[in-house]
Amino acid sequence: MRLVLVGPPGAGKGTQAEFIAAHFDIPKISTGDIFRANVSGGTELGQLAKSYMDAGDLVPDEVTNAMVKDRLAEPDAANGFLLDGFPRNVQQAGKLDEILTELGVALGVVLDLEVDFDEVVKRLSGRRTCKQCGHVWHVEYDAPKVEDVCDKCGGALFLRDDDKPETVRHRLEVYSMQTEPLIEFYRGRDQLVTIDAQGAVEDVTERAITALTPYA
Ligand code: AP5
Ligand code: MG
Ligand code: ZN
Repeated sequence: MRLVLVGPPGAGKGTQAEFIAAHFDIPKISTGDIFRANVSGGTELGQLAKSYMDAGDLVPDEVTNAMVKDRLAEPDAANGFLLDGFPRNVQQAGKLDEILTELGVALGVVLDLEVDFDEVVKRLSGRRTCKQCGHVWHVEYDAPKVEDVCDKCGGALFLRDDDKPETVRHRLEVYSMQTEPLIEFYRGRDQLVTIDAQGAVEDVTERAITALTPYA
């Protein structure tokens, strides 16, 4: 399965990506996670990406495209992958087609997670992410047993720098302006599957797996 997840910030892309990737046994490739790992590792790429991420803007396409191209060429992606957070504009979608053509494969399906902006704001204000394993928690909706400690691995949880209310607002604008047009782009190519991403995490996972199974 060669799958792309789209949806606004806080739609649950990262949350669902973990379950979907495990279910279909494909690697989860999250551009946001790769950028954040580079920021904490202090790499050149991280230094470049940080100012854009902190502002809630997209990192320039040349940088992001090159990073995804390298990642998709790794052996674990040869039999399928889940992309979380890429493509994020129509230019990147064109680049993805180009990369896959060079690799001699094609994109299978795009899963669109539909959720109200009000819900997104609630989800992001309570999000906590594990420093060690990357699992995403929520202080209210999906809380770990011990505050700020990951149930899965014992790692410490952190608040993302871009989850401040004013940055969240800007990320939603960037989504509406730049990413939302992708939905029509993929619908026009008959590659889009939309699911309701509101309700309990497990219910959304079930909807996602049911919708994606015909493409496996
Ligand atoms: P990225 O990390 O991709 O952030 P995003 O798209 O803004 O999405 P989020 O990670 O905030 O939300 P999510 O949908 O993954 O939700 P989550 O599962 O965490 O990108 C960050 C930045 O990196 C960008 O702003 C940009 O600068 C840069 N970047 C990345 N990709 C790029 C690209 N292609 N081009 C250029 N720049 C790029 O869930 C949110 C919360 O809700 C969690 O707390 C979770 O526990 C909770 N939750 C999830 N599901 C439910 C549910 N069903 N019910 C209740 N709570 C739920
Ligand atoms: Mg995410
Ligand atoms: Zn963890």
